[in-house]
Amino acid sequence: MRILLIGDIVGKPGERIVTRTVPALRQRENIDVVIANAENAADGSGLAPSIYRRLMAAGVDCVTLGDHIYRRSEIVSVLTTAENIVKPANFPAAAPGKPWCVVTAADGTPVAVASLLGRVFMRPVDCPWAAADRVLAEMPPEVKVRIIDFHAEATSDKQLMGRYLDGRVTAVLGTHTHVTTADEQIFPGGTAFQCDVGMTGPHASILGRRIDRVLETTLTFQPTQFEVATGDVRLCGTIVDAEPATGRATAIRRLVVNEQEAEELAAATPVAGPPVM
Ligand SMILES: [Fe+2]
Ligand SMILES: [Fe+2]
Repeated sequence: MRILLIGDIVGKPGERIVTRTVPALRQRENIDVVIANAENAADGSGLAPSIYRRLMAAGVDCVTLGDHIYRRSEIVSVLTTAENIVKPANFPAAAPGKPWCVVTAADGTPVAVASLLGRVFMRPVDCPWAAADRVLAEMPPEVKVRIIDFHAEATSDKQLMGRYLDGRVTAVLGTHTHVTTADEQIFPGGTAFQCDVGMTGPHASILGRRIDRVLETTLTFQPTQFEVATGDVRLCGTIVDAEPATGRATAIRRLVVNEQEAEELAAATPVAGPPVM
């Protein structure tokens, strides 16, 4: 079976390239389940229920978030009622949302998904390693395919989580830095790993935001509006192949869809959304 994890969706440009291309991507790549990190989908920070619904309509099966999870408070109702969206599992128990979920892939395989936040250069949270142990113990034993979105800043943290969970999960895939790393691999125990799957949004930017605004604030120390940028929109994700019976990963590869390819995919989609740009 084949899993696609889409990296941090940023703003309207990120949402559009996902909704325009995922239906055709699912067909072209034979993808059975699509997981998307949508923590930056609402104007660059947070997720709104309307965006969540459009992602679902486009063929996203499961949503993960990150440090910006509660920036839009409206999403709390979705987090507490929907079965296919998770909060970081190392958030406090009182924080709204489920620490893990199980979605059914197109081939019928149940797929467990959890997200964890790193602690280096980030707001303090509970121990991600202990939280990983906890969620894995809670997941039904018959669900062999298990995907961890490790939303963290430091590559060392991410490698350590990959090694810690090697042989216990199908994949540990990183998000949050918005920059794709070229270290995709399968560890000896059968866990697919990559430090960061990258950003889905405008790449003519600073991590998705307007270059001029970030530069002005950096040089002058004066706050500006870090608006979402517009140029060079790409979908960045990673595809993992797994054995349903064991949950072992058998292949991992990066996926990038640029604007031109997105137009071609949208043209091949049964119901096309609005233009990417
Ligand atoms: Fe992000
Ligand atoms: Fe983040």
